[in-house]
Amino acid sequence: MRKFGLIGYPLGHSFSKKYFTAKFEREGLDTCQFDLYEIPQLSDLKMVLAENPELEGLSVTIPYKEQVIPLLDALDPACAAIGAVNCIKVNGGRLTGFNTDYIGFKDSLNAWLKGEQIQALVLGTGGASKAVKQALKDLGINYVSVSRVADAEKNQIDYQQLNQDPHYLQKHHLIINTTPLGTYPTTEQMPEINPDWITGMHKVYDLVYNPEKTFLMRSLEARGALVKNGLEMLELQAEAAWKIWN
Ligand SMILES: NC(=O)c1ccc[n+]([C@@H]2O[C@H](COP(=O)([O-])OP(=O)(O)OC[C@H]3O[C@@H](n4cnc5c(N)ncnc54)[C@H](OP(=O)(O)O)[C@@H]3O)[C@@H](O)[C@H]2O)c1
Repeated sequence: MRKFGLIGYPLGHSFSKKYFTAKFEREGLDTCQFDLYEIPQLSDLKMVLAENPELEGLSVTIPYKEQVIPLLDALDPACAAIGAVNCIKVNGGRLTGFNTDYIGFKDSLNAWLKGEQIQALVLGTGGASKAVKQALKDLGINYVSVSRVADAEKNQIDYQQLNQDPHYLQKHHLIINTTPLGTYPTTEQMPEINPDWITGMHKVYDLVYNPEKTFLMRSLEARGALVKNGLEMLELQAEAAWKIWN
């Protein structure tokens, strides 16, 4: 049996398990299995690897995305810059870390933009925003961060500045939501962005994928913006993990 799995704690419902189990069935990969390894401390990873010598790849989720880095033998360069790992390739006991959120977002955004020259606003400064910002850097797209707390040193404005100075939305036509606002079940929420300044020039990429069309997407689409949710990113990151493991 070829084994793959997810480490984290606690592990509730898992997109990866559902995705890979369905993929293995659909593609007749009946020698492959995907398991959940709920480990209360990261030191248990050693035991998981020892007990499952057939393991070829692991996904990593909360709270180990950063903590796992010192335990790895090698790191993909983009992943080192982001400072978080969500995918490990296991090869003869050697562990290499990757960040597939970065790969999924970068590939999906690049295809969506079709080479358009554009500047971005990145809403939110959490874990996902780090992968997004590294992807923007590598695609050569300039961006300004928007947070509830401004920080001039980090080129980071707050929502008040965004809504008081029209130049931000006039100059930055790509709006990327990396906050969880609008996610089911609190679907009638969105980041504080004034729809009045949105035009047909704007594109909105929302990392949220449930619901399919978020309140942010609906509000800005009503002003003419082109919108996209995070589903493609989610699927591309899973397929990126599969490619890395194979
Ligand atoms: N589509 C995909 O494949 C994919 C991949 C990864 C993540 N995601 C989604 O992306 C979202 C963010 O994930 P994450 O891991 O980065 O989450 P996170 O670390 O919890 O942080 C998101 C950021 O959102 C901002 N934020 C949080 N609550 C807010 C509020 N009430 N009002 C305004 N801003 C708020 C915060 O930034 P400030 O403190 O700077 O305001 C926070 O750092 C989640 O919904 C996740 O499901 C999707």
